[in-house]
Amino acid sequence: MKLRVPECKAKGTAPANRYLNTRARRWASGGGGAPAAPWEKRRGGCRLAPAGPERWAMAAAVLLAAALGGGLLLIARRYLTGAGRASRAAAAALMRGKTVIVTGANSGLGRATAAELLRMQARVIMGCRDRGRAEQAAREIRAELGAQAEGGELVIRELDLASLRSVRSFCQRVLQEEPRLDVLINNAGIFQCPYMKTEDGFEMQFGVNHLGHFLLTNLLLGLLKSSAPSRIVVVSSKLYKYGEINFEDLNSEISYNKSFGYSRSKLANILFTRELARRLEGTGVTVNVLHPGIVRTNLGRYINIPLLAKPLFNLVSWAFFKTPLEGAQTSIYLASSAEVEGVSGKYFGDCKEEELLPKAMDDLVARKLWDISEVMVGLLK
Ligand SMILES: NC(=O)c1ccc[n+]([C@@H]2O[C@H](COP(=O)([O-])OP(=O)(O)OC[C@H]3O[C@@H](n4cnc5c(N)ncnc54)[C@H](OP(=O)(O)O)[C@@H]3O)[C@@H](O)[C@H]2O)c1
Repeated sequence: MKLRVPECKAKGTAPANRYLNTRARRWASGGGGAPAAPWEKRRGGCRLAPAGPERWAMAAAVLLAAALGGGLLLIARRYLTGAGRASRAAAAALMRGKTVIVTGANSGLGRATAAELLRMQARVIMGCRDRGRAEQAAREIRAELGAQAEGGELVIRELDLASLRSVRSFCQRVLQEEPRLDVLINNAGIFQCPYMKTEDGFEMQFGVNHLGHFLLTNLLLGLLKSSAPSRIVVVSSKLYKYGEINFEDLNSEISYNKSFGYSRSKLANILFTRELARRLEGTGVTVNVLHPGIVRTNLGRYINIPLLAKPLFNLVSWAFFKTPLEGAQTSIYLASSAEVEGVSGKYFGDCKEEELLPKAMDDLVARKLWDISEVMVGLLK
């Protein structure tokens, strides 16, 4: 059954792409109300649930415990992040004068990553889809860092990962202007949006999070190789665990579920990393993938939180979510640390290697996804 879904950015599927998509698909086809809560059960006529004021006291105690626990967690996290910063002093020396591309560098993790790399005196190219937002972020970063920004450089280049044309023109300019590229950080992402299509007719989350970065990386591989040793860092998410690569409906035309769509795109990030690592063996270019944890950023822009629940959500996110700088630590580590020199094809969280589920280590699926992605983005006609 074909779902009727709105297309917020439906410039339509160009005939060429319809052809490609079809080809790609063909290629791939190989009564009594809720039960009472335990505390509401009566035993021997005696109600176990606390009476009104007691209930409020209990709720207040739970909130207080949550706030205290959150506070302790926050202090512990700040302490741990501080330790990470110390080892970054050594990494800073390695980054001086290096050229780094960060996609989605105007917000959240990307902004924090760009700021830290600028502090390390790198030349940071911010690949952003909106020049105004990028310029504002760059101004703010320079103002926050003050004298610490000296020696580094922030450069803004327009890059809309929802448009293969934009990805191609971004890469063309980079290849014309940059003599070298030391690190590429595939960070930009979109999360659980309603059904939308990219300019080229791909489902938005798969199109931006996977396909846009797939084309970007492939077009920049030559420059990365000639600049070796160089690195590629891919930002995925733990939510990959809930995704599957359903080759028969990569465009979600048969059915669309926004949570599944996000998880699938993040699983694709990991499979892409592992297949690319295999292809890059012996070139001096490494590629690793990470999950940043739960971070307080603009990623949840499509999630509707009821107005009354917003203060509680803000409290919980303040207490339990990482700040963008904390969340960016693993990206910065993989981009700059001598500890991961030569390490490739691995999955990291909190600056440490982590295990993957078997579905993310399926080399056959990774190869098939690579081949089909090449067709979808027009690298293979
Ligand atoms: N926050 C978390 O808890 C969390 C957890 C796991 C993984 N991640 C991953 O972390 C990465 C960064 O996300 P974030 O949390 O920092 O979210 P964010 O604050 O929303 O930043 C996302 C960035 O991606 C950019 N972007 C979105 N669509 C784009 C497109 N079509 N072309 C170019 N850039 C585009 C955004 O640009 P605009 O500002 O112009 O929209 C923004 O700069 C994402 O890959 C996300 O999946 C985040």
